[in-house]
Amino acid sequence: MASTSTLTRRQLIRTTGLGIGVAATGLALSGCSLLPETTPGAALLTSAVPLPAPFGVPLPILPRAQPTSRNAGTDVYDITARPGVAEILPGVPTPVWGYDGSFPGPTIVAERDRTVLLRLHTELPVPTVLHLHGGATPADSDGFPTDFLVPEGWTGQHTHPAGDVAVGTREYRYPNRQQAASLWYHDHRMDFTGPQVWRGLFGSYLIHDPAEDALGLPTGEHDIPLLVCDRAFGADGSLAYPSLDRTLSSVAGVEEPYAGGVLGDVVLVNGAPWPELDVTARRYRFRILNASNARQFRFELDPPVAPIVQVGSDCGLLAEPVAHTALPVSPAERYDVVIDFGGLAAGTTVELRNGLGSGPTAQVMRFRVTGAAADDSRVLARLADVEPLDPAKASTARRLAFARTSGQWTINGAPFDPSRPDATPRLRQLETWTITSDGDHPVHVHSAPFQVVDRTGGLAATDRGWKDTVAVGPAQTVTIVTRFPEFRGRFVAHCHNLEHEDMMMMATIEVL
Ligand code: C2O
Ligand code: CU
Ligand code: CU
Repeated sequence: MASTSTLTRRQLIRTTGLGIGVAATGLALSGCSLLPETTPGAALLTSAVPLPAPFGVPLPILPRAQPTSRNAGTDVYDITARPGVAEILPGVPTPVWGYDGSFPGPTIVAERDRTVLLRLHTELPVPTVLHLHGGATPADSDGFPTDFLVPEGWTGQHTHPAGDVAVGTREYRYPNRQQAASLWYHDHRMDFTGPQVWRGLFGSYLIHDPAEDALGLPTGEHDIPLLVCDRAFGADGSLAYPSLDRTLSSVAGVEEPYAGGVLGDVVLVNGAPWPELDVTARRYRFRILNASNARQFRFELDPPVAPIVQVGSDCGLLAEPVAHTALPVSPAERYDVVIDFGGLAAGTTVELRNGLGSGPTAQVMRFRVTGAAADDSRVLARLADVEPLDPAKASTARRLAFARTSGQWTINGAPFDPSRPDATPRLRQLETWTITSDGDHPVHVHSAPFQVVDRTGGLAATDRGWKDTVAVGPAQTVTIVTRFPEFRGRFVAHCHNLEHEDMMMMATIEVL
């Protein structure tokens, strides 16, 4: 399968590495005869259980996690990752793995500059790792994929050399020294993140700060996280996932047709299929997260009664709001939006649809207006100061090629190797990363919020603000400017299509 030219390119990249291979990778990438082997796309898994009609269940409002204790600067949480049973489809019990047994987990609400000490306990039958996605977190709390937490008495074997292993309980310390933002937390176990998140190991994590509170955006019951994901169900109501090893204990990977990503035919919002939310005729703030393994959405309102007004991106508020008629969202991206139902008559229904789906996956959820309401919220024309990062001031330029090479998902031709640092950025130094892609790769960098400064065909309306995940499309080149602001140590950057990630599309970043 590997042509001579492919081999040459891989050897070149191997010997030059991620950080210093600028010339070599740049050259190789410009020759299109060297570009890939066929890249498998994500494949649809079809449910065997009868599916409910849409809009038959209310949108679940996810419970807020309660701290075990609070002291001067810290909120302590005890959360247990464990098997549970959820009623996701009405009347159908579904075994899940969840934080506190629920699908999705409880919402953690943090305040800027107050530490969250999360004591994660596990009763799962396999190792787990916890990652706060979008968090500025010390390396030992960031959830490096081989820093496993295993249950008491576990006798299994790790599929990779383990890093720092904890038994029963592990403490993760989140300093929250960052602006208000909609983050999320999820499993990050080496080789098995896809199936473990699919089973329910994810939840919402919000940071508030006084500057945001002063803006007058909708709050309280009018500020609602929407965790959107696709799933598929077996005939017995279980979550279907095409793992080679259904016990997730020793063999990594998925059945071949799904190597490009697993798609489901059921769209869940906050763990409910195609739900409905009663709203009053006023503004609402929605924290949209695409928690799917591989599915991309393009959210649209039908009828288009109001623009989808974006106020925040992955890592915080935008400088100014941006009105969208369609909002494309790749896996792991967050869009903080305001929708104004003001002026709509009671009984009006508005669908949130997915312009990239077909049949059941074109539907997402529905809003139903119940009546008029007072509204003292507002969306100011100026939301936050966003310091623009200047690519001209960068001291290092890296190139990262996300591509399928020799049947593997790779970055610069190499599959993930936790023991090999692929890039060694220096703390607080500005860098540009030029990312190329052979398909759809939502590229995520831990520990370093970035700004998108260039994209083939021009910047998208969704490229603004502080991002931690950027969608890079087929044959696209995207340039980001970044710096690792606070913590030294070992982190990762990876594709957030979880099947690509599990199949090694990940790099080790050692911050010096
Ligand atoms: Cu949301 Cu490394 O991931
Ligand atoms: Cu992350
Ligand atoms: Cu990918």
